[in-house]
Amino acid sequence: MEHGVATAGDRLERGTDPLAHLKRAVEELKATRDAVILAHYYVAPEVQELADYVGDSFYLAKLANSLPAETIVLAGVAFMGESAKLLNPEKTVLLPEPAADCPMAHMVQRRTIEEARAAWGNDLAVVCYVNSTMEIKSWSDVCVTSSNAVKICSELPQRHLLFIPDRNLGRYAAEQLPEKHVILNKGFCPRHQAISLDELIDLKEEHPGALVLAHPECTEEVLSEADFIGSTAGIISYAEASEAREFIIVTVRGVLHELERRCAGQGKRFYFTRTVPTCVNMDMITVESLVRCLDRGTGEVEVDLTGAARERARAALDRMLELAAR
Ligand code: 13P
Ligand code: SF4
Repeated sequence: MEHGVATAGDRLERGTDPLAHLKRAVEELKATRDAVILAHYYVAPEVQELADYVGDSFYLAKLANSLPAETIVLAGVAFMGESAKLLNPEKTVLLPEPAADCPMAHMVQRRTIEEARAAWGNDLAVVCYVNSTMEIKSWSDVCVTSSNAVKICSELPQRHLLFIPDRNLGRYAAEQLPEKHVILNKGFCPRHQAISLDELIDLKEEHPGALVLAHPECTEEVLSEADFIGSTAGIISYAEASEAREFIIVTVRGVLHELERRCAGQGKRFYFTRTVPTCVNMDMITVESLVRCLDRGTGEVEVDLTGAARERARAALDRMLELAAR
């Protein structure tokens, strides 16, 4: 398929309308591979434009499970491709940039889980944010995303919940569920953790009428300033449906593309803190890497877990899909 890259590339360079040519080249490559492209809201706008489906982590996990295509190209970070592969072992799952990892996905130690299981026994459930490696999922009882964490935690029969790896989403879920005893782990998203409360307050002063829409990976003090807390998809839908005209968006700036697309013609304004939040990992996914992976079939996701561990990781994801649908 090396040959195909040159062909697609040639067409891109020679074309007079680069976007139209690019789209056509991608369509041809997708047809050759029977591929579908899924992208997260945080990837670059031009990558989102080439995708068949764009969404939050939950949507992408659910969707990957129901698509007929042979090959799923996941324009997102590694854990997203791994979830798609765990749920669809018979399919080929490709990551345009396999080195694009989520640092939080590694931020828990097995000892933390063993200690909690020893302390609480059967009255403990290990709740694992999907932003985690396959191995960490295999240590867990159920996965959650930011859009369903509260609902799924509330459905669990156990009173004690060890929430891994993200302390911020775990704390946010715990606040909504006073009947549960939620044990937090120390992990966090470096991008959301770095969002400055002072910069947010300055922005609120500059735009006193703006609503603050924040992702639950933010710190407690930042979330205390929010009018709405939700996943990337939740933030976008809230802004679209709202009567308000101005919004302070407290998450990674990649969501702006879909916000502007969905709110086109509504005259809405979106503001980010002075230090605009970006995700260096998501930013590694480019049009070039997407075309290369489609053309050469590079970045194939392998499940590197043994039989029983793989089954446990898959069961944690399946349980999320089942509980979220209730
Ligand atoms: P969402 O599930 O809200 O899309 O979040 C994914 C993510 O990585 C947030 O940092
Ligand atoms: Fe991971 Fe944070 Fe990037 Fe989301 S924004 S992928 S949690 S590093």
